[in-house]
Amino acid sequence: MCGIVGYLGNKNAVPVILKGLKRLEYRGYDSAGIAVLNGGLQVAKCKGKVADLKKLTDKDLHEATIGIGHTRWATHGKPNDVNAHPHTSNSGDLTLIHNGIIENYDSIKEALIKRGYRFDSETDTEVLVNLIEDVQKSENTTLAKALQIALNQVIGAYAIAVISSNNPNQIVVAKKGSPLVVGIGEGEYFIASDATPFLEFTKSAVYLEDDEMAVINRGEDLEVLSIKDNRTIDPYVHQLEMDLESIEKGGYDHFMLKEIYEQPKSIRDTLRGRLLPNEGLVKMDGVYQFQEKFVTAQRIIIIGCGTSWHAGLVAEYLFEDLARIPVEVEYASEFRYRNPVITEKDVVIAVSQSGETADTLAAIKLAKEKGATIFGVCNVVGSSIARETHAGAYTHAGPEIGVASTKAFTAQVAVLALIALKIAHKKGVLKESYYHQLLAELDDIPNKIERMLESDAQSKYISGLFKDARNFLYLGRGYNFPVALEGALKLKEISYIHAEGYPAAEMKHGPIALIDEDMPVVVIAPKGGQYEKVVSNIQEVKARNGKVIAIVSEGDSEIAKTADHVIEVEDTLEEFSPLLTTIPLQLLSYHIAVMRGANVDQPRNLAKSVTVE
Ligand code: AGP
Repeated sequence: MCGIVGYLGNKNAVPVILKGLKRLEYRGYDSAGIAVLNGGLQVAKCKGKVADLKKLTDKDLHEATIGIGHTRWATHGKPNDVNAHPHTSNSGDLTLIHNGIIENYDSIKEALIKRGYRFDSETDTEVLVNLIEDVQKSENTTLAKALQIALNQVIGAYAIAVISSNNPNQIVVAKKGSPLVVGIGEGEYFIASDATPFLEFTKSAVYLEDDEMAVINRGEDLEVLSIKDNRTIDPYVHQLEMDLESIEKGGYDHFMLKEIYEQPKSIRDTLRGRLLPNEGLVKMDGVYQFQEKFVTAQRIIIIGCGTSWHAGLVAEYLFEDLARIPVEVEYASEFRYRNPVITEKDVVIAVSQSGETADTLAAIKLAKEKGATIFGVCNVVGSSIARETHAGAYTHAGPEIGVASTKAFTAQVAVLALIALKIAHKKGVLKESYYHQLLAELDDIPNKIERMLESDAQSKYISGLFKDARNFLYLGRGYNFPVALEGALKLKEISYIHAEGYPAAEMKHGPIALIDEDMPVVVIAPKGGQYEKVVSNIQEVKARNGKVIAIVSEGDSEIAKTADHVIEVEDTLEEFSPLLTTIPLQLLSYHIAVMRGANVDQPRNLAKSVTVE
């Protein structure tokens, strides 16, 4: 996710854009840039935050009444000055900012290079601005028309704004898959990823729909067109009521809730271009580059902390079950100090949302020194851990602001599932028909989560019943044992209620002594796996007056007879059940924390990224 801002009017554009970008930093903050037209094109951009950009603009940029700005969350090309937006076309005429991903930028770039274009950055965005220039020159047409023609050649998601050095009175914007809103003021226009950059100036806003573009001319009415057929559209002008903070959170009360609801999108973005069920393919360059290492690996060591360690535990079941490769999952903090035996035959997978966790970084440096191949699964492009690995696969979950990790966890599990599937298929240890069934099912997971998130009434109701509990137990078996640990972590870190996760069968080895009517027990019991044994575990808890909250497959009437409360999840293959069963546990912990008045997004004693030991 990136943030885009633009301005055309009678104010000095520079401070308006900088302040607007500051408000969008929650969307991305690894690099930033601004371009203005004041008798010519001026561009300032750099790695770092908007505050770093401001230092540049204070000395380099003069007053201007038209400009565009961008704060980046890198997807293609690491965060640095060159890859920062805006990007300018080879002639210097066109300058563009972009939020989204151009999936077919490789082939477009190749064609443009053949036509003599050169590229300075690694971004898909620089390809797009030169494609528009190439069309405008070859068709000898307007910027708006050239943009329309170019976007009909592009596959992907975008919210873009383009300005031309030849016309300081116009901004052209277009939208597909990423948000773009136009603010309409008195003799001035604003464009942005959401309304926070211009809410103080105007509450009149037009939210562009997918495949729409707008031509913004100084002193003229807004012109909205369909990209596909150039049809003029009469836009609906909203009068905004929301305040700044609620817009940053997308209308949700907390970033954590917003990120829970972003999971269909973040998983789709993570799978996009990698999972091709119709072709029976998993495309992952980083894995392909090292697939012999994976295929011949004597073991895979997965290293992480907290939630990322839980994602690694799910991957242990996936890799051993599907790819038949021995896996060890290690707490990074323990691994780095226990003088582990590591050889060059080992493949180490580092899992980290921030890519900056000190223990994980130290652990992989140790493994690397001892000759292991290091593969990273990170959510921040160009992060320290990503740069330390030999190869990797990013989760495209976008910035995760809430300290409690939610969408990053499911995106990590999705990437790790892709790797397991790719290696299993390469090794030929997976029945072909089942391989295809798994690909199709993984592709459908975001749709299932979307339907599950249509209502959180049941998890909210149950939260109200148990918000004052002093202890919780979470139980799961097989693929859902890690989910029990993850659910317990979610609850304890944001509601401050003590919670423990256990393999369900472990109850009889001690924890069952804890069971009484004051001990809520969350049991993850989807169909499949050792379902019958989990049903017995539920009965063991009930026999001791424990209160059972069961996460069950939709339509499961058997457990409903025994458990005190059930929350249903859609049916799926056992291998992917963690992607679904974790959702109600995220909501349960969220609602309980809110009901307890806890600071959900910034819980006490915690930081989003633990960059110290
Ligand atoms: C998860 O909700 C916690 N915020 C925490 O355990 C986190 O997963 C852990 O610190 C690892 O962070 P990383 O994924 O950025 O490496």
